[in-house]
Amino acid sequence: MEFISNSLEDTVKFAKIIASKLKKGNIILLFGDLGSGKTTFTKSLAKELGVKEIVTSPTFTIMNEYEGVVPIYHFDMYRIETLSEIEELGFSDIINSGEGICIIEWPECCIEILPSDCIKIKISTLETNTRKFEVEGI
Ligand SMILES: Nc1ncnc2c1ncn2[C@@H]1O[C@H](COP(=O)(O)OP(=O)(O)OP(=O)(O)O)[C@@H](O)[C@H]1O
Ligand SMILES: [Mg+2]
Repeated sequence: MEFISNSLEDTVKFAKIIASKLKKGNIILLFGDLGSGKTTFTKSLAKELGVKEIVTSPTFTIMNEYEGVVPIYHFDMYRIETLSEIEELGFSDIINSGEGICIIEWPECCIEILPSDCIKIKISTLETNTRKFEVEGI
């Protein structure tokens, strides 16, 4: 599935579509360059999944946890250099528990320890306000 967003409003619409298809235990991998919109999309997705808190980028905390319709775990692996750094956060337990929905920015570094049935979303910047979302595995 492919979705072209020409505005933040379109990205909210796309997040609604994706949210309606998610269930507990899903892991969403967000691929895309710096500033492509991974966090922006996650904010809308979290809202659609019942999160009332303000969602912020976990660049420095690596993981933020929110209470939504199910627990929502938002990871940003940009700064991760070794897998042991994320294991300290209990990454495998969270990923394998099936108890929440995980959203992972910059997942490239941990692909080898992720299950094969993750939902993959690749975001590309086409123009200043235009983004292409390519979805696999949903
Ligand atoms: N159609 C659009 N959809 C989403 N974001 C958009 C769109 N048009 C412009 N933007 C802007 O693109 C930027 C995306 O930034 P964001 O922090 O979400 O990117 P990111 O992929 O999380 O980057 P990083 O790799 O640094 O974490 C925001 O400033 C947002 O307002
Ligand atoms: Mg981000």
